[in-house]
Amino acid sequence: MKKFKIGNIEMESPTVMAPLAGVTNLPFRLMTKEMGAGLVVSEMVSASGLIYESEKTFRLMESRPEEKPLAIQLFGADPGIMAEAAKRVEATGCEMIDINCGCSVKKVLKTGSGSALMGTPKLAKEIFKAVKDAISIPLTVKMRSGWDASGEDALLLARYAQEAGVDAVAVHPRTARQAFRGHSDWSIIKKVKESLTIPVIGNGDIHTPEDAISMFDTTGCDAVMIGRAAIGDPALFKRTNALISGQIVKPTLTEHFRMMERYFIDTLDYFTDEFIACKTMRSRLGWFVKGLPGSSAFRKELVALTTRKQGLELIHNYHHHLATDEMAEKVELTGRFSG
Ligand SMILES: Cc1cc2nc3c(=O)[nH]c(=O)nc-3n(C[C@H](O)[C@H](O)[C@H](O)COP(=O)(O)O)c2cc1C
Repeated sequence: MKKFKIGNIEMESPTVMAPLAGVTNLPFRLMTKEMGAGLVVSEMVSASGLIYESEKTFRLMESRPEEKPLAIQLFGADPGIMAEAAKRVEATGCEMIDINCGCSVKKVLKTGSGSALMGTPKLAKEIFKAVKDAISIPLTVKMRSGWDASGEDALLLARYAQEAGVDAVAVHPRTARQAFRGHSDWSIIKKVKESLTIPVIGNGDIHTPEDAISMFDTTGCDAVMIGRAAIGDPALFKRTNALISGQIVKPTLTEHFRMMERYFIDTLDYFTDEFIACKTMRSRLGWFVKGLPGSSAFRKELVALTTRKQGLELIHNYHHHLATDEMAEKVELTGRFSG
């Protein structure tokens, strides 16, 4: 397997689960880690929320040994607060801290953080330095291409990051204004890679293992980061890692449903409140069955999911239905599973 190191931390694979607010909580990360993600990143954590000790913020940082190495992502625009927050994050025992320079949500932008920092590179550099000086674990920065389409913002910010002692950068080459529209411009990842000596993680529009190989080949990046495509398809990491090693691996239907069950059970444990966990999992389990035969009937039943027993039965029954001989051909046609 291709080696991938950030600072003194070596990852088992060069595939990273992207931070996704509202998605990459502990149960989700445990699942993607089991499926081969070399590095998992928390949902973004507000530096000021952390300083003012909001309980919700601490919950975002809950971790388990099996998911290590874990990066906790911080957002904020004040160097002092970011540095203090980073110290507290390091004290939780995580392996890395990531600074969010990519979020384009209005609520975050109006505080001057997230991708707003791409428009204030000097302040961003101050933040990188302050955080780097405050911690001894590796520090990474996740950025967009910039405010506009020139791509120069990413080059400048990446250089500032390296100068400030940041250990790796991740680049999602869409502009802040673009949000998620259009296509990411991978040529910017290549430019950033060519201009730095620290590792560069490429991100944006990887949907298949072949896309990941193509990103490695066209940009020279050191690792790939996958976001939306892994929601509901954690085995994408397994297939991608296999292809990086020159093999084609298809997950089995049994493994897919085992993941659904694991995710469901871990979410029940995480939320402790059975009803809240079930409500959350209605949409989550729906992602897993996208494109599978009979998924709309399964989704209709999910709408009324309120108990652990009901959820486990739904998962088992749908699995058994798909595993019958008469469904085999239809499942095969989806191209996602073998056996
Ligand atoms: C629902 C959702 C939540 C996201 N939350 C975060 C976040 O908390 N921090 C961050 O840096 N990026 C966040 N992103 C951006 C992703 O990490 C990633 O950069 C983007 O989705 C592009 O990768 P993809 O094409 O593989 O999805 C989020 C994206 C989505 C769709």
